[in-house]
Amino acid sequence: MKTTTHPDPTVFVIFGAAGDLTLRKLMPALYNLFLDGWLPDRFEVLGVGHGDMRDDEFRKHLQEGVNEFSRRGKAESKSWDSFAAHLRFYRADLEKKKTFTDLSRKLSAKDKNWKTQANRIFYLALPPRMIEPIALRLADAKLNRDRKRSSIVVEKPFGRDLSSARKLNQTLGNMFHESQIFRIDHYLGKETVQNLLAFRFGNTLFEPVWNRRYIDHVQITVAENVGVEHRGHYYDKAGALRDMVQSHLLQLLCLVCMEAPVSLNDEEIRNKKVDVLHAIRPIPSDRIHQFAVSGQYGAGWIEGEEVSQYREEPEVASDSFTETFAAVRFFVDTWRWQGVPFYLRTGKRLPAKVSEVSIQFRTVPHQTFPPATLLDLHPNRLIIAIQPEEGILLRFETKYPGGTMQLSPVTMRFFYHEVFKISSPDAYETLLLDVMLRDRTLFMRGDETEAAWSVIMPILEVWESMKITDFPNYRAGTWGPEEADVLIAQDGFSWIVPTLLRCGETSCGVTAESRP
Ligand code: BG6
Repeated sequence: MKTTTHPDPTVFVIFGAAGDLTLRKLMPALYNLFLDGWLPDRFEVLGVGHGDMRDDEFRKHLQEGVNEFSRRGKAESKSWDSFAAHLRFYRADLEKKKTFTDLSRKLSAKDKNWKTQANRIFYLALPPRMIEPIALRLADAKLNRDRKRSSIVVEKPFGRDLSSARKLNQTLGNMFHESQIFRIDHYLGKETVQNLLAFRFGNTLFEPVWNRRYIDHVQITVAENVGVEHRGHYYDKAGALRDMVQSHLLQLLCLVCMEAPVSLNDEEIRNKKVDVLHAIRPIPSDRIHQFAVSGQYGAGWIEGEEVSQYREEPEVASDSFTETFAAVRFFVDTWRWQGVPFYLRTGKRLPAKVSEVSIQFRTVPHQTFPPATLLDLHPNRLIIAIQPEEGILLRFETKYPGGTMQLSPVTMRFFYHEVFKISSPDAYETLLLDVMLRDRTLFMRGDETEAAWSVIMPILEVWESMKITDFPNYRAGTWGPEEADVLIAQDGFSWIVPTLLRCGETSCGVTAESRP
């Protein structure tokens, strides 16, 4: 994991440079890295695409993206101009071998010009079907050869099931060494997600209680209020389980459950995460319904606006059986976590965009206080708020002021923006810098992607084999289908309404949750 070093001279080759990902994520991230002084002087973005664009048109197009999507807002023209001098467009046909031999020549010319052997990053901002062919053409042009300075970056989805992920890993592995492959899961670049490591392993306070003796259950909610937007074509073939659970939610689960790494070494951290994935208890195919619930949104209201049902979204089949909501109950079969249920849920068109990890502690083992004092007794709860606010909240009981003994819960809040007074970098800023520094800690290793697919395969297979007749089964703007409530209620729990929605407070300090 990086500390303070800066990247060496780098050429950042983006395949799919005219696409959405480059516009919304990659370029704002690179520009912010530039503003923060992270980019080396000898740095070039070479956008490769079939669009008919000159360099100046390419730059203008990207500037519009930065103006709209950068966390810093509109680019200031002087800074933008200095950054834009590093951007070039290479119009090329990705189907042709010659494109890659020409690319190789361009890169060698750059080395000569810069009088160095620059790092070469090949970023595949492309649909999944193009990953293997492009990787093959890069290898044909020998652009994979130099292990120390050539890297390939691949976006999710990494395969669409276990066997395709294996095949993809094999193909990439035949051409690139694992140390050259960066598989992106952008959740790992989020500041609070990384802070889980700092929080868990930089403090002594929490480790002794971070286990089955003190933790009752854990909930992970990643909710979105948007629908499938313009991605129906991809999403209708993926669904929530593939799109979110296999990647982002399982990664969060790993960070909550993993054992303490010996060091911040990338292999060490990833080994510990893979251990968690291997320890997840396989879900029996004949009892999937007791462990997993799927949903698809119908029409409804989001923030006062009427929205249509999933089956009416662009590029979605009108009889689609794709799930837009998934809730799963997992158990992690280790000494630490035996018997602790982990409830994961995610969905589109839920009431808000909010992601939280809630660690629910057990009730006290012996009740010292008489019943009359306990009107408002709640077990401790630790919330790791991931978005939209990034922070950590801890609920504990106190004595309500007054002549009699009355217990009352309070919540102690810490929010990044309040304490550090700077905006956190976007996940892509962190990840792109890590690629340039060749730090793989926040990227998924090949075996990790396969282990994650293995975890969800039983659910995926059963869901794909049955045509769910009650879809749509939740209204847009609600927390998913009723079956999700039943799933968690069978263990005597209920879903926790994300804290920030409940109390609306986003400032640091301690507040009373309620009064006796
Ligand atoms: C992507 C999914 O990986 O993550 C999208 O493909 C989803 O469907 C997105 O909307 C959510 O990311 P974030 O950072 O907005 O929570």
